[in-house]
Amino acid sequence: MLEVEQILCQMTLEEKAALCTGASAWTTLAIPRLGIPEMVVSDGPHGVRRVTDVQAVGAKSLPATAFPTASCLSATWDRELLREVGAAIAREAIALGVDVVLGPGNNMKRSPLGGRNFEYFAEDPYLAGELAASYIQGVQAQGVGTSLKHYAANNQEYQRLRIDVRVDERTLREIYLTGFEIAVKKGRPWTVMCAYNKVNGTYASEHRYLLQQILKDEWGFEGLVVSDWGAVVDRVAALEAGLDLAMPGPKARFTQALVEAVRSGRLEEARLDEAVRRILRVVFRAKATPKGGQFDLEAHHALARRAAAEGMVLLKNEGLLPLKNPQRIAVIGRSARYPQFQGGGSSNVNPTRVDIPLEELRRLAGEAQIAYAEGYPEGLAEDPGLIEEAVARAKEAEVALVFVALPPAVESEGYDRPFLGLTPQQEALIQAVSQAQPRTVVILNTGSAVDMRTWIGGVGAVLQGWLMGQAGAGAIADILFGRVNPSGKLAETFPLRLQDTPAYLNFPGENGEVRYGEGIYIGYRYYEAKELPVLFPFGHGLSYTTFHYANLRCPPRFKDTEGLRIAFEVTNTGQMAGKEIVQVYVRDPQASLPRPPKELKGFAKVALEPGETKTVEIELDYRAFAYYHPGLKDWVAEEGEYEILVGASSADIRLCQTVVLEATQDWPSLLNEESTLREWLQDKRGRGIMEPFLEEMLPRIRAAFGLEEGETFIGMDLMGFLLDMPLRSVLDFQSEQLPAPPEAMVQELLHRVRGVKRSGEEHRVL
Ligand code: BGC
Repeated sequence: MLEVEQILCQMTLEEKAALCTGASAWTTLAIPRLGIPEMVVSDGPHGVRRVTDVQAVGAKSLPATAFPTASCLSATWDRELLREVGAAIAREAIALGVDVVLGPGNNMKRSPLGGRNFEYFAEDPYLAGELAASYIQGVQAQGVGTSLKHYAANNQEYQRLRIDVRVDERTLREIYLTGFEIAVKKGRPWTVMCAYNKVNGTYASEHRYLLQQILKDEWGFEGLVVSDWGAVVDRVAALEAGLDLAMPGPKARFTQALVEAVRSGRLEEARLDEAVRRILRVVFRAKATPKGGQFDLEAHHALARRAAAEGMVLLKNEGLLPLKNPQRIAVIGRSARYPQFQGGGSSNVNPTRVDIPLEELRRLAGEAQIAYAEGYPEGLAEDPGLIEEAVARAKEAEVALVFVALPPAVESEGYDRPFLGLTPQQEALIQAVSQAQPRTVVILNTGSAVDMRTWIGGVGAVLQGWLMGQAGAGAIADILFGRVNPSGKLAETFPLRLQDTPAYLNFPGENGEVRYGEGIYIGYRYYEAKELPVLFPFGHGLSYTTFHYANLRCPPRFKDTEGLRIAFEVTNTGQMAGKEIVQVYVRDPQASLPRPPKELKGFAKVALEPGETKTVEIELDYRAFAYYHPGLKDWVAEEGEYEILVGASSADIRLCQTVVLEATQDWPSLLNEESTLREWLQDKRGRGIMEPFLEEMLPRIRAAFGLEEGETFIGMDLMGFLLDMPLRSVLDFQSEQLPAPPEAMVQELLHRVRGVKRSGEEHRVL
């Protein structure tokens, strides 16, 4: 942008430094002399929290639609719907004078206890990345910016401002960065928000590797990096690392520090210019969209209801739902009257209105009588009297609908959940009601998985309603009465118990550190590798109709660079129109590094009338087959067989076909001075050299140990003993008889592997 360059060269050092920190809690600095306007940012992600007073972080906000939280939106698995919701949020942002919406949140759900899981999409990076990209596209197509957050590895609330996440490179790349990578590359967000926490010893706000090398250089991110609110510790170190805008402001000491750093030569002015350039580009882009006007409250409320219905997941149904015209219904549970439709913290929207489940049920129940009982008191308090009353109502009715929501004290931003279950009173309530009334349906409004062991067996149906947004009550009523056929599927596993969860022994960390000891095995990757039973698997969700999958077509061989296009058919074999979320997983049965039993690499949501069949086509690209190799520092799709698994959930695979990938990439050998005999034999190039070499060498080693062929060495198998030793050490056993020192011989072999020509002729090592 020419304008940006022209302005930049007229700015004083002080002005440049000042622009790199907010002017208030929610605005950037305006510099009228140069025609630089202020830019207004507001939370996000599931609605606009436009505060009335920009000086205050926690100020009251103007009414806006509270759309379903990410917990619910993600379970829609519907890219188009995410775009629609994003576009509606952008229209509200425009009406409310907001330039950039602070969302979507795209951290992985590492543990179901994560306090902000309700703001995040999934335990799978591909699903999360695709949904985040769609949301971003939806918002930004209207000329409003987004802030993809919190980059990176912010997977818990405990000590979030200082915890040091210890995570290995492969895990970081495959699990914790991939969702961001997809969202950055496909969604092209205007801004990315760095996380509070440290990653391997360095604050995310000062992390050059994350911010500059990966995000900006490798992924080509062109927008600005903003800090999470209060995440900047050392302003100069942060700027140097690629953090462009520090929020909130004003903070004179930050401006001062940058000015002094440039003057003293600690910071190159060119780096400051780069940050200013990125900020100005976004500011002017934002200003191209005029703000003001109205938004359509009714239309957005209706969209919020539709989106909520698409994301609710029917977890269990023993023929109880949809309700079959009952005449006496008991509605039990406080959240039927006081719905928990969003979570606490920065995402908390001041809703334009809130629908109440009890009222929505009455609206759709026709002539049926509805009796209400509170069931449990507010918060964590207990009151056995409320259970007795609920049981009495349940006995009088033909069906009991029990609404349960976790109190804000145990699910919110700022702290993690202390336990995986419901509150003791809520569990006791469900048990008592379902004993009195076998036709009991539980409707859960939680932002994440729940341990249901104490009561699931006794109830006839469970509907996961999530933190469902202001119109979610209507969506629940629509599903219970069969006006909407449920079609949501889980974006996270529901484990049986907390002790089974992958991060159980490493969450939330101790002594200032949290070790991601489970590595790449999070969510279903872990449960499947361990063959652990779960309550409801990733991708699970029931419908009022049934679907049949058939006729998977994949070319048997394909080139890695060309990817693979697969096709199959899905038929609605039931009586009701419905939508099926079809999932494509890839399994690599044989790889040089361990891989999860299967990984999600494609999905689609298909609407089908009864009896209707549709063909689904899905493209799988290079990355669908690749893993991140920390040695090669690259994504590797190995030559050979892969299984394409098409299913209704991660645990319900309906179609399978084996394909062969032809690798076009020739990876350099990773053999080095430390490589073991086994590694030499496994290496594509090393094997050809090592096999004949070993043939000559083995008799010498045997001789050195005084062994006959086939004889064991102090009771050990000789090869077994040698295989995992560095080649250097193997040679060392017979060094007296060697033509050269072991180190030199290894070097010589390495040269041969790397194809380095030496002094004209082929060198013999032995
Ligand atoms: C949260 C961010 C939020 C920011 C501004 C922080 O505490 O982590 O998600 O956008 O505050 O409210």
